[in-house]
Amino acid sequence: MKKKIALIFGVTGQDGAYLSKFLLKKKYKVYGVKRRSSIINTQRIDDIYIDINSKSNFILCYGDLTDSSSILSLIKKIKPSEIYNLAAQSHVKVSFEVPEYSADVNGLGALRILEAIKNLNFEKKIRFYQAGTSEMFGRTKERFQNEKTPFYPASPYGVSKSFAHWITINYREAYGIFACNGILFNHESPIRGETFVTKKIIQGLMKIKMNKQKKLYLGNLYAKRDWGHAKDYVEAMWKMLQQKNPDDYVIATGKTLTIKEFVNKAAKKIGFKLKWVGKGINEKAINIENNMPIIECHKRYLRPVEVDYLKGNTQKAKKKLNWSPKISIDDLIDEMIQHEL
Ligand code: NAP
Ligand code: GDD
Repeated sequence: MKKKIALIFGVTGQDGAYLSKFLLKKKYKVYGVKRRSSIINTQRIDDIYIDINSKSNFILCYGDLTDSSSILSLIKKIKPSEIYNLAAQSHVKVSFEVPEYSADVNGLGALRILEAIKNLNFEKKIRFYQAGTSEMFGRTKERFQNEKTPFYPASPYGVSKSFAHWITINYREAYGIFACNGILFNHESPIRGETFVTKKIIQGLMKIKMNKQKKLYLGNLYAKRDWGHAKDYVEAMWKMLQQKNPDDYVIATGKTLTIKEFVNKAAKKIGFKLKWVGKGINEKAINIENNMPIIECHKRYLRPVEVDYLKGNTQKAKKKLNWSPKISIDDLIDEMIQHEL
C-alpha cells in the first residue's frame, strides 16, 4: 500500500508535536512546516527529528501561513494525502493586542491553504483538517455546546477561527474538498505553552514549592473550562480524516472546572494547603503552612471580555468516530507535575 503523507502546519506547537508522533506510529511520512524564528524552537519535536541525511519519515520545512507562495509551493512539491492546519496565533489574550495579525494567520491562513489545494487541482487528492476551537462558542448561554450551537466568539482569536471554520465548510461545499473542522475544547499536556493557564499554574506552584519563585499572579479565577489531554485530541483529528465523508466534530470531555478549582486540585497534589481570602481582583491564596500569600490576582491577566463557560457535548464524535477521551483531568495534572519535577 502507498505510504500516506501528512503535511502539518504548526508542527512546533503542542498539538503539532503530539500529532507528528501519532502519525509516525501509524507509518505516515510526516512533513512539518515551521516558520523562521531567531532562536531554535523545535524542542517539542527534537526527539523525533533525526538528521538531514537519514531516511527519516519526519521532515521539517520552512513556511508561513501569512505567505501564500510558501504554502502553494510546499503543497505542490510534497503532494500530501492529508493536511492538518494547526498553525495559529493561538493565545486569546494576545489576540486583543495583535488583532490584525491574529486574523491574518488564523483566518486568512486557512483560506490560503484551501485556495492552494483548489488551484493545484488537488481537491480530490488531499484531505484537510482545520483546527477549530470552543472559543467560537464564546459567550453562548447554552450549557452544553455541540456542533449545532451557534457561534458567539468573544475575541479577535475566536472571530478569526470562526472565519476559518466557515471558509472550510464553504470550500467543502463549493469545490468538493474533503475538509473537516474539529471544534476542540481546551487541551493541555506537559508541553503546553507556558502562558496558558494550566501550565502557568503548575509551573508556578512547583517553582514556589522549590523556593524558586515567591508568588503566582493570575487573572479571572471563575471562568470555567472543559480541559482534556492533547494526546487524546490529536487522535480525534486523524479519525475525522479517515471517515467516508467530511464533517465537523466537537471534541471535549463534557466536564468543566473553574480556574480556582484547577488551582486547588494542583495545589493539593503538590502538597500545599491553601486558604482563599478577599474578593475580585483582591482575592488571594494563602499558604497555611507559613501564612504567606502565594497566589494573587492581577489586572494584567484579565481580558477585555471573557468567555465564562465552556462544556462540550461529544455525542456525535462518540457515535461517528468512536472517539472518547481516555485521560482524566487528575491524570493530566499528575503528568504535568511529574514533567516539572
Ligand atoms: P500552539 O502550541 O500555540 O502552536 C501553534 C503553532 O502554530 C506553532 O507551531 C506556531 O509556530 C505556529 N504558527 C504560529 N503562527 C504561524 C504562522 N504565521 N505560520 C506558520 N506557523 C505559525 O497551539 P496548540 O495548542 O498546539 O494548538 C494547535 C491549533 O489548535 C491552533 O490552531 C489552536 O488555535 C487550535 N486549538 C487549540 C486548542 C488548545 O486547547 N490547545 C483548542 C482548540 C483549538 P511557533 O512555534 O513558531 O510559534
Ligand atoms: N492565560 C491565562 N493566564 N489565563 C488565565 C490567567 C492567566 O494568568 N488567569 C486566569 N485565566 C483564565 C482566562 O481568562 C481563561 O478564562 C482561562 O483561564 C483559560 O485561559 P487560557 O489557558 O489562556 O486558554 P483559553 O481558554 O483562553 O484558550 C485556549 O483554549 C482555546 C479552546 O477553548 C487556547 O489554547 C486557544 O488556542 C484554544 O482555542
